Amino acid sequence: MVKHDFAGSVVLITGAIGGIGKATASAFARGGASLVLVDLAEAEETECARLIGLGAEVAASLSCDISDEAAIAGLVDKVLEKFGRIDVIVNIAGAMIYRPVAEMSADDWNRMLAINLVGPALLTGAGLRHMRSGGSIVNIASIHARQTTAEVAGYAAAKAGICSVTRTAAIEGKAKGIRVNAVLPGAIDTPMLWNSPTIKSGAEKLDPSQVGRPEDIAEVVCFLASDSAAFITGEELMADGGRIASL
Ligand SMILES: NC(=O)c1ccc[n+]([C@@H]2O[C@H](COP(=O)([O-])OP(=O)(O)OC[C@H]3O[C@@H](n4cnc5c(N)ncnc54)[C@H](O)[C@@H]3O)[C@@H](O)[C@H]2O)c1
Repeated sequence: MVKHDFAGSVVLITGAIGGIGKATASAFARGGASLVLVDLAEAEETECARLIGLGAEVAASLSCDISDEAAIAGLVDKVLEKFGRIDVIVNIAGAMIYRPVAEMSADDWNRMLAINLVGPALLTGAGLRHMRSGGSIVNIASIHARQTTAEVAGYAAAKAGICSVTRTAAIEGKAKGIRVNAVLPGAIDTPMLWNSPTIKSGAEKLDPSQVGRPEDIAEVVCFLASDSAAFITGEELMADGGRIASL
């Protein structure tokens, strides 16, 4: 495990109490970051204490529904008021619904796009407005941005969309010295994976070597957010154990 130095950095993580979110918060904690943990519910005090035990300077928890524009604006105001700065934003919060395209309602489409595209895009925009030079934004997309399966069109479209937003934001952030990158995880061992109806039914088969750990993604996120990746922006980094490369 590589330890990057995030001492003095304020790191905002959405989806921070989910599988990949917790592992990512832990990795930034080891680097000494001040953490802002964002999720639908606040993180438990024991989770904040655990992160401080790992090395976080501060671990503050805020609830925010990232599909709500006003809630996102309030979140950004609160973080700037409390910490005075934001150095890293990691957009991890996400959700899936499983429905054939033929049965998707406008509400289904709007929900998938609001959580997986518009919310992260609005936070990316806030980052471009408020971050200083050296700031870094990492958006968690998915291999579904590139290749997909039946019944997840809303999710896949949103994840492809956030990759596109990442590229444009990287171009727009360049003059300010802000980098914007995306990570495209493959199958990762979290409840989101095992709750998939296609995995449960056996229609989608996974070789154990194709299932990564949340820590595998956390490492990639920390690398992209760190100065080690100073020359990387607008990139989509796939972390899928080679699943998509195979025939
Ligand atoms: N697990 C996988 O196989 C996998 C693969 C590719 C991409 N991803 C992506 O990784 C990210 C994290 O997924 P995970 O596997 O840790 O799943 P998870 O379900 O454990 O975590 C998702 C977190 O997002 C939060 N969240 C959902 N909707 C929200 C909202 N409207 N506002 C705020 N928070 C909200 C949830 O409360 C949860 O804590 C997601 O964006 C997901 O699409 C996961």
